[in-house]
Amino acid sequence: MKQLLSTLLLSCSLTCIGAQEINIIPKPIQITQAEGKFVLTPQTLITYDKELELQASYLQEIFGGSTGWDLQMEEGNAQTGAIHLSLNPEMRQAEGYELEVTPSGVQISGADPGGVFYGIQTLLQLFPAEVYNVIRQKNIAWEVPAIKISDAPSHPWRGMMLDVARYFFDKDFVKKYIDMMAMYKMNKLQFHLIDDSGWRLEIKKYPKLTEIGAWAGKDQNRFGGYYTQEDIKEIIEYAKVRNVEVIPEIEFPAHMLSAVAAYPWLSCKGEPREVPTQHFISRDLICVGKESSYQFLQDVLDETASLFPSRYINIGGDEAVYDNWETCPKCQAVMKREGLTKASDLQGYLTNRVLQMMKEKNRTVIGWEEIIQRGKLDARVVALFWHNEKDTIQAVEKGHWAILTPATHAYLDFPESKTPGEVKAATWMPPISIEKAYSLDAKDYSEGSHVLGVQGCLWSDQFIHGTILQEITPLNENRSENYAEYFTFPRLLALAEVGWTRESAREYKDFARRLAYHYARLDQKGCNYRVPEPAIAQIQEGAQGVTFTLSESVAGAPIRYTANGSYPTVHSPLYTGPVTVDDKNNFRAITVINNRHYSLPIYFAYDYSEYKHFGEFSGEWKPASIQADKAAPWRIDATGKISGNGTYEITFVQTGGNNSLKIDGIKLFKREELLDGINAMRKVDKQHQVSYRLHVKSFEAGTPFTLEAQVSGEGGNSTNGAVFIKKVDE
Ligand code: ACM
Ligand code: ZN
Repeated sequence: MKQLLSTLLLSCSLTCIGAQEINIIPKPIQITQAEGKFVLTPQTLITYDKELELQASYLQEIFGGSTGWDLQMEEGNAQTGAIHLSLNPEMRQAEGYELEVTPSGVQISGADPGGVFYGIQTLLQLFPAEVYNVIRQKNIAWEVPAIKISDAPSHPWRGMMLDVARYFFDKDFVKKYIDMMAMYKMNKLQFHLIDDSGWRLEIKKYPKLTEIGAWAGKDQNRFGGYYTQEDIKEIIEYAKVRNVEVIPEIEFPAHMLSAVAAYPWLSCKGEPREVPTQHFISRDLICVGKESSYQFLQDVLDETASLFPSRYINIGGDEAVYDNWETCPKCQAVMKREGLTKASDLQGYLTNRVLQMMKEKNRTVIGWEEIIQRGKLDARVVALFWHNEKDTIQAVEKGHWAILTPATHAYLDFPESKTPGEVKAATWMPPISIEKAYSLDAKDYSEGSHVLGVQGCLWSDQFIHGTILQEITPLNENRSENYAEYFTFPRLLALAEVGWTRESAREYKDFARRLAYHYARLDQKGCNYRVPEPAIAQIQEGAQGVTFTLSESVAGAPIRYTANGSYPTVHSPLYTGPVTVDDKNNFRAITVINNRHYSLPIYFAYDYSEYKHFGEFSGEWKPASIQADKAAPWRIDATGKISGNGTYEITFVQTGGNNSLKIDGIKLFKREELLDGINAMRKVDKQHQVSYRLHVKSFEAGTPFTLEAQVSGEGGNSTNGAVFIKKVDE
């Protein structure tokens, strides 16, 4: 009997001298290592079955970039020394493959072209990481260990949703995202093309959808964009060889203000609207009482279906608020005519009319879980469960299919941690660590349910403003594309394994060990990612101070630290063993992968819990950030703490040091706009905290707020403290 990977690795590390550690993600079903290796040379031939020309060309192109060799391709049978791609109709599991590497050649056979593509991905993961580089890499031994791998996915649906509506990612980024998904055997891209903040798909019959609906703001502040129908064809073509199905999502009845801005007659009231420049959830639903709305949907879906070959069309359907339907005479007339009792049942009525349109086109409808929760549907649909994975039971009861995309595990717009300095991110759920994402169990939650698989979601409302707002501190960069990758990686790898690998074969520790080898691969791909902070294994308080013992979170990556409260860099002292410091709040440590990629510093935040009656902790000052007797501006991020119109109390508390903090005045800004300020000198010392009251009258959700205080240390800079923000009225 063939051995499973875990047993094999255990016995191998003891007995097979020279056997290489195998770090494939997602973890394959069965791996058998053998003696010897295959060496790629400029003479290596790529041979293939005639249906596999696309896959062979793909492989030729990858090798062409990194090795600089123009390998020859030949349709036909396997030859000694060649890499051979074939289809094996006896393989029963869709997308399954077998990869056999021997010193005299490589054989990849797949159940279908997708399976062959996955065999190629596994082969590439066995080559040195440089194989992914598009520029010729010199002095690399292009070798692969002899091995046999049999593999197939446990779930047919392994998806990502990319929100190109809130923030417009251009077609090159979309292609790159697809390429990265495919590297980890993800096969469905839910293309979130429509939302309140933007309409991104060219529809020839309704040109204003993109002339107006794709753009927010005015003149030089205008931003947005859309895909032409030619762009869409190019994206689909690119995805096809990578076995990624691109599924268009046309959102209605809510999340479509961009369409209403273009054609106000779509809404119940028909009032003029603008594409919002901030994250905004509109209540202008499409009116279900006007036949023109159905004609619009029919036309848009006709063009969409003719562009996208996917057997699925996603109709969104989430988060509708029905006030306008409740008061619209036309919508109310439909309710009466159809004998419906609740405005929300009108969504079911609308979905049924669209189901009929899609049936004529032989397409299956997908939508967020709300589509099966509002009224009774006439046909089977696929529901994306985003609240609670256990709710998939609802799909079974109603005969539908389900996909798991719970916000708790799969929404990658949540931060990975609460570590100070973490990027701005969604806040309505706790952070999602790599381990948390990995802990999602892609099982059926009831007997006989139809869980197709799992899907991650990258919403972009956190970077709707693109380059203006966001900054990734550790990278000192602010491009939204980098930011999107920072959110996505490495958590995508965790979700990819959840979808591909059988639950019984998954173990986080083993995944984390393999993951350490993939950062170099992401680097070669030119893909940004978040680096995990070092972990604190032990803290001991003693007479000499506090001793920190750290553990690596990326095997083999150096840890660097500081002991004076400053921000560590790639040049800070190398951690080689326990470090003793006199003040535990001054210890900082980072994981360094390379000069561009290092983690946020872990550190022992001062415990401010005794001050929580002053409100939310919002920032701290230290001697290093204060000048003696020379007032300088200190900017404090108040985003999230300013939560609506009202009065806010800003309190400064000194927690250490011998000099007092002198504050010459304080100002509150919304973006660059001054909202309020107080020009009065106050002094903070250990006995006296200082509070200011400021007023907000023009709050906007999703906008950055900043406090600016003019501060100095009186007679010296020996002062430490913190600032708190509290809302004092409603
Ligand atoms: C969603 O997060 N509104 C599907
Ligand atoms: Zn209406």
